[in-house]
Amino acid sequence: SIERTLSIVKPDAVAKNVIGEIYSRFEKGGLSIVAAKMMHLTQEQAEGFYAEHKERPFFADLVAFMTSGPVVVQVLEGEGAIKKNRDLMGATNPKEAEAGTIRADFASSIDANAVHGSDSAESAEREIAYFFNDNEICPRG
Ligand code: CMP
Repeated sequence: SIERTLSIVKPDAVAKNVIGEIYSRFEKGGLSIVAAKMMHLTQEQAEGFYAEHKERPFFADLVAFMTSGPVVVQVLEGEGAIKKNRDLMGATNPKEAEAGTIRADFASSIDANAVHGSDSAESAEREIAYFFNDNEICPRG
């Protein structure tokens, strides 16, 4: 079925100037960008976005990294978009990411891992609403 998922190009990938290359991976993979914005997350925005991780030992480092520079946040739409995006990204730890995935090609560590993608339909719904109003999403006909 046609799904939507929330994707973030993280500060490391923005700094490397590979936003376009990452967008090409999405488009060549059959996903359409139906909403997008560049923003520099505040501490509050990053903490709220990653609230489910707040008890994890890496939470403070994660928030510090995600607020260290601008990100690009987008909604991807397509057949099975949630899993398709996760397949395109590769494993969270780039050392474990399969060759040809975004993280294998652009990420340098588990924190600076180039991209975020929603991990379930429930997360996708929450994460999309966290960053976008309904009228900021432009579905493809
Ligand atoms: P992301 O998909 O953005 O969701 C949470 C992030 O926490 C994850 O990508 C990683 O960049 C980061 N992280 C750091 N350490 C870990 C860890 N041990 N397990 C999972 N995620 C981690």
